[in-house]
Amino acid sequence: MARIAGGALAAAVTLAGGLGFIGGGYGDATWVDEQLDVAAGVEVGVGFITWALADRVAVVGRVLDRGVRWLWLSFGDPSVFVRAAHDRGGAVVICQVTSVAEARRVVDAGADVVVAQGHESGGHGRDGLPMSELVPAVVAAVDPVPVLAAGGIGTAADRERATGLGAAGVVVGTRLYASHEALDSDPAKHRLVSSSMTRRTTVFDLLRGPEWPAGHTGRALVNGAVERWHGREHELRAGLEVQRSRYRQSAQVDDMDVRVVWAGTGVSDIHEILPAGDIVRAIAAPAAPEQRAVPASARTVPGTRPGSSRSVRP
Ligand SMILES: Cc1cc2nc3c(=O)[nH]c(=O)nc-3n(C[C@H](O)[C@H](O)[C@H](O)COP(=O)(O)O)c2cc1C
Repeated sequence: MARIAGGALAAAVTLAGGLGFIGGGYGDATWVDEQLDVAAGVEVGVGFITWALADRVAVVGRVLDRGVRWLWLSFGDPSVFVRAAHDRGGAVVICQVTSVAEARRVVDAGADVVVAQGHESGGHGRDGLPMSELVPAVVAAVDPVPVLAAGGIGTAADRERATGLGAAGVVVGTRLYASHEALDSDPAKHRLVSSSMTRRTTVFDLLRGPEWPAGHTGRALVNGAVERWHGREHELRAGLEVQRSRYRQSAQVDDMDVRVVWAGTGVSDIHEILPAGDIVRAIAAPAAPEQRAVPASARTVPGTRPGSSRSVRP
């Protein structure tokens, strides 16, 4: 989670038994360095938004040179970064995708792990399939490459449903945003607890910049800015400089009615801000029987092989 997942959150996730990632986003090398210092001594990965780094492979090289062994890439052609990662000591490359075709492309480019991101997910992605349909399709397409499920996972029951679909593991974003360690203000985190409405939109990419490549949207909490501009993007474009300047001023004072809070549909199940370690341990624990909406016998999708993951330890 770009700029939200810093070293403290990533380290807390790893120490609780997961694998935490620093959200390197658009590639601010100084910030990533600082966050790696915060996580020093704990194994964490770093993620980047691939299209934003197209001509700056050095940013990725720098984290690999610092000993990072888990590289997360999304939203663009990962080929050049995969080569850099595999050349420098064999870091594991995890590529997030939103379709079966994209999954095949990243595996052809050398991805070691694929994240199948359903449209419920918070933050950027595409308005594609729900996680429940995308995961089995991607598992079947890229077998034996391990596939992780992303989108709406915040409880042990969610995790069990996803692994029942063939996922080798799960990715948790929005639920960990509402943690003590996430790098955002208390009002933003409280919004995650009190809100339930999200929408995929390009409004915030227009208001904040940079604009994203065509086809991408970001799922965020619905606030005044979304209500005002979603569906009226052409009007927003017409007065973009003025609106951007207003947005910057509102964001500076943390005006929740204007600034973005990226969040997935699972936000409606978030009721409190917790330490990240508690969140990870609760998701990793066996689900309570009453939470299991789908019986165990129905959770394996024909044609998928839940136990077939190949090892990805670097
Ligand atoms: C605040 C926030 C920031 C995100 N930033 C990124 C990012 O920089 N790169 C990325 O690949 N995915 C990003 N995502 C998407 C996550 O990788 C993941 O797909 C998503 O959080 C999973 O769905 P969930 O939010 O329902 O748990 C972000 C998600 C959130 C909530």
